[in-house]
Amino acid sequence: MRTTINQIKDMKRKGEKIVMLTAYDYSTAKIVDEVGIPLILVGDSLGMVVLGYESTIPVTIEECLHHTKAVVRGTKKALVVGDMPFMTYHTSVEEALKNAARFIQEAGAQAIKLEGGVTVAEKVRRIVECGIPVMGHIGLTPQSILQFGGYKIQGRTPEAAVKMLKDAQALEEAGVFGIVLETVPTPLATLITQKISVPTIGIGAGIGCDGQIQIINDILGSYTDFVPKHTKQYTKLADIMSSAITEYYNEVKAGTFPTDKQSFSMDESILAGLK
Ligand code: KIV
Repeated sequence: MRTTINQIKDMKRKGEKIVMLTAYDYSTAKIVDEVGIPLILVGDSLGMVVLGYESTIPVTIEECLHHTKAVVRGTKKALVVGDMPFMTYHTSVEEALKNAARFIQEAGAQAIKLEGGVTVAEKVRRIVECGIPVMGHIGLTPQSILQFGGYKIQGRTPEAAVKMLKDAQALEEAGVFGIVLETVPTPLATLITQKISVPTIGIGAGIGCDGQIQIINDILGSYTDFVPKHTKQYTKLADIMSSAITEYYNEVKAGTFPTDKQSFSMDESILAGLK
């Protein structure tokens, strides 16, 4: 039985911290699920950490669906959230509904996430009315990076802070079951967390949020283009991978791999016949 949105909302009520992590492929998702992480996001961050794009803007819905399917296949318990990419929910309510449905019907996700506050609230309300759980995402919303002019901390002026609180309240009213707060000053994220009834999941938003999300490649140290300030590398997978791959390379070059252990024998008489 997978985690439900009611269980996630109950965790806020009980003061239990919510752990969320991204995953993009079957094998990794299986490990994340077996650890017991209840919420997995197949983020459009896959565009950067898996596909090598410079931002999340080029990511297509087909790419997101493809990876969401793999994560769903790798998990049994986690609630899998599909991430709606740039311009798949902006042009009309109908377009937003049609694309949100694809994550549930085609990819097997249990919820979707989209970026924005007041401006997307009506679309959120309509998607939720159709029975699709929605997670909001405000603060630094990477799909608007061109508008922001860079990956900058959000909500530091009085106007921006008030706007962010209103965005959070609009999403709550529209029926989201949780809101990602990205790159927001800790006191503001804490205030928003106290003022709304649904869980806040922070990334670079401090300890006062109801839960935390990180990009798996960041915490494992496998994405090396840059290390965001909000992350902590729990290991350096890139170094571990590099030394294992180097060892493989050296053994193949030296003719010491494969050994008998990795090889297959056959009946000598059949071989003799062939000769
Ligand atoms: O795409 C993603 O991984 C995200 C997280 C940063 C929350 O949106």
